[in-house]
Amino acid sequence: METQMLRATMSKLQELGQLEVCNVEVDPKYELGAVLRYFNNQKPILFNNVKGYNMPVMGALYGNRQLYYDLMGVTPENRLYKFMDAIANPQPYKIVSNGPIKENIVTRNIDIQRMFPVPTSHEKDAGSFITAGMLIVKDSETGESHMAVRRFQVRGGNIINALVSGHSPRLRKQLEKCNAMNKPLECAVVLGYDATYLLASQISSTRYGLDKYAVDSALRGEPLELVKCYSVDLEVPAYAEMVLEGHIIPNRLEVEGPFGELMGYYGDVAPNPVMEVTTVMHRNNPIFQHAFPCREEHLANGLIREAEVFSSVKNLVDAKDVNITIGGGCRLHGIISIDKKKDGDGKTAIIGALASGYDIKHVVIVDTDIDIYDPSSVELALASRVQASEDLVTIPGALGSGLEASHVARGLTDKLGIDATKPLGEKSHLFELAEIPGFEGELDIEKYLPGVKK
Ligand SMILES: Cc1cc2nc3c(=O)[nH]c(=O)nc-3n(C[C@H](O)[C@H](O)[C@H](O)COP(=O)(O)O)c2cc1C
Repeated sequence: METQMLRATMSKLQELGQLEVCNVEVDPKYELGAVLRYFNNQKPILFNNVKGYNMPVMGALYGNRQLYYDLMGVTPENRLYKFMDAIANPQPYKIVSNGPIKENIVTRNIDIQRMFPVPTSHEKDAGSFITAGMLIVKDSETGESHMAVRRFQVRGGNIINALVSGHSPRLRKQLEKCNAMNKPLECAVVLGYDATYLLASQISSTRYGLDKYAVDSALRGEPLELVKCYSVDLEVPAYAEMVLEGHIIPNRLEVEGPFGELMGYYGDVAPNPVMEVTTVMHRNNPIFQHAFPCREEHLANGLIREAEVFSSVKNLVDAKDVNITIGGGCRLHGIISIDKKKDGDGKTAIIGALASGYDIKHVVIVDTDIDIYDPSSVELALASRVQASEDLVTIPGALGSGLEASHVARGLTDKLGIDATKPLGEKSHLFELAEIPGFEGELDIEKYLPGVKK
């Protein structure tokens, strides 16, 4: 039985009763994305009847927090420690001689848009985009594989171009080196992966300098199984759905975008590297993986940031949990619960949280009796535990996220921390939340009102 990549994920989703199947014809231009967006990208859907193609599309795979935990076999309580442990203790992966990914190898007449149902998502998008593609390159100095999700604009024929963020200096440095030598950079784009592979990819190589394949193996508790590519010196998951092999063309940039992205805006257009696809490997009856561009699809990125904020704050005060919210694009907003022991813990936690990364913009520190995943509970803390003249920390004119429009417009970002913790000492009784003895937590409402809808 397969345990890795997309088909294993789909079996698991089926087991959990979480896989929707759409057999009605959908147009990959706009219509498919509109169906995914209807459920806020929280419901995995297999589209079996994609107009103009004989290939199904699987969308909204990794946008739901609880489902993500279920797919990874972690709990809300243990996940931060499991992720930190995997980063601290990477494990060996395994290179196997063959795998289903090699069932079909195409080296001629490659036309990406003709071969794959690549969706177009928004009105002003420059065209169709591969949005879930995992770009693999090998670090020329260390020999380690470097993987990260990058979007690719389909330009026609076998040419696609990648968006490489300014915050990926490791890849950018490698591209610069190749440009200086006028040498192509071998690369591969993987589609049809699982939640573990995606999570491992979201670890920043600037921060850790790790081989993400080894982090993946630690996260999944078994070696990630890889095969050698057909035409380039790279390894890719043996059970993936498809792999586009080729190279980044040296000294050739093309304007990528516009593209309706993460925060719902079109973002800046800029020249970006161009990839020539020379070989396509795919499984029999391949399934095309699509990540509709929206905030939920960045959940994996937020899950890693939660571990980073947690370790930064935990270093200073007794941090309990972190929610990097979907509303803040899984990167701009953090809600952190702490077990406050001393006056000053709240402000100290703000320092730790804002120092954890360049993207984070607004953080709220709350006590453990606040549910950081419930906006209404957090609002209660803001409404009843904050005095603006005392509890706000602002840092004007810092650097922020290139995915945040007000930062891009201004070039700088103000950071804000709100200490929404209650005071310690004699006044603390004013903040005790009233409870119903024996009935806190989940009430089995069906016992009282059989069949009632929640
Ligand atoms: C759905 C999704 C789409 C993404 N798209 C891009 C992208 O187009 N370009 C990019 O540079 N990063 C993108 N990212 C973020 C990178 O994958 C992520 O920051 C990664 O950790 C970068 O790795 P690095 O620090 O090793 O370069 C995306 C992440 C997700 C989850």
